[in-house]
Amino acid sequence: MPPVEALVNARRSIEARYRARTPESRALHERASQTLPGGESRTATWFAPYPTYIATGLGSTLTDVDGNALVDFTFNSTSVIHGHAHPDIVAAVQRRVAEGTAWNAPNAGQVELAEILCGRVPSLDQVRFCASGTEANMQVIKAARAFTNRDLIIKMDLAYHGTYEGVEIHQGADGWGGPGAPVSRGVPSNAVDNVLIAPFDDAEIVDWLLETHPGQVAAIVVNPAQTQGGLRAPSPGYLRALRDAADAHGTLLVFDEVITLRLARGGGQELFGVLPDLTAMGKIIGGGLPVGGFGGPAEVMEIFADRQPPVLPHAGTFNGNPATMAAGIAAMQLLDAPAFERLAELGEALGEGLRAASRRAGVALHVTQVASVVGVEVPRGGAFAAEILDLIVLELLNRGFKAASMMTVSTATTTDEIRALEDALTDVLCELRPVIAQVAPAVTEPAASVG
Ligand SMILES: Cc1ncc(COP(=O)(O)O)c(C=O)c1O
Repeated sequence: MPPVEALVNARRSIEARYRARTPESRALHERASQTLPGGESRTATWFAPYPTYIATGLGSTLTDVDGNALVDFTFNSTSVIHGHAHPDIVAAVQRRVAEGTAWNAPNAGQVELAEILCGRVPSLDQVRFCASGTEANMQVIKAARAFTNRDLIIKMDLAYHGTYEGVEIHQGADGWGGPGAPVSRGVPSNAVDNVLIAPFDDAEIVDWLLETHPGQVAAIVVNPAQTQGGLRAPSPGYLRALRDAADAHGTLLVFDEVITLRLARGGGQELFGVLPDLTAMGKIIGGGLPVGGFGGPAEVMEIFADRQPPVLPHAGTFNGNPATMAAGIAAMQLLDAPAFERLAELGEALGEGLRAASRRAGVALHVTQVASVVGVEVPRGGAFAAEILDLIVLELLNRGFKAASMMTVSTATTTDEIRALEDALTDVLCELRPVIAQVAPAVTEPAASVG
């Protein structure tokens, strides 16, 4: 059988099992496709043949509309750090929404969450809230431009900073824009004129870009650990070199900590020991509700101060809304030192479990782990890498696990769940190994004898 046909057949049988398990999801997807383009509102959650519709999330378990339980290792793209529907967070939100959900005035919850974040994240004197991580990145970039009176930013190759055209340039996922190119139509072609691209983890290129654009670069924007295109921790010295380069050129250093804030109490900046000027946040600070936040030293954040007219207006109907603030406060209060220890231990166990499965099955997945975040790639998979990973993820769904190329744990995750995932992944890889050996032989290696 030609190699590609083997892969097509593998997809056919995995999809057949998926379809048999998920008729209600399929029906909902068909209905949704009438009123939602593609049947979805979120590019990142769609997959072929159709996404699973989830009915409930409790702790680390999702239950789909067909009644299938799925152990979650994605936690809404790393945002639900205490698992789904944590009772303390639910109670805080219930109390708050019963008293009204939003009004044209600030609320005390904003003050409390701002104080918590400024008390934890070392570079923050002041913060503002918005409704998403995308907006947080928009605002820090705008602030850096306003503060420095410069237009250009340096962004890292593949790095994702949200669905905002100012950063939707060579953003990552396969085919989404080549080097320096917009990720899609709709991003104005001149958006690239304001963005210089450097590879992640290469400070020399950043130095060179700053030297060849003197006095023009407002910000170096970086994820302290890059999460798109494979999870990558910074090499020792990289972030420090960016800090020095920014200082030498009057450029602001911006950390997108939308994901990395979960790596330690003070986020990636604390874990890696380098402080940015401005920080974009999101995900965990909203306790599972929609959120974004951004901040830095008072000297820079002052440009947002509300006077008439403000230097930099920053409006938003749901900025700092009481329900999100209540959820965020409850989530942050639960996120104490033992919680971080537990998350790091579970993250390590997950990374080890995935590596063990890959050794046992003789399929060389590349697994990277930084605290509670774990990345999985199919190295040397060439043109078939993405499809191989998609099939692995789909077959894991068939076996009751929600996995992804970037996985995570929550404080609700158990070591038993991780062991069960390891066993399921071993079986899935053993099943797919003959197909992988045909389409991407370099991915397979001798299977380790199972002890
Ligand atoms: C590093 C990073 N920045 C920004 C964003 C955008 O956040 P949001 O989806 O809340 O707009 C994300 C979302 O996944 C992210 O991972």
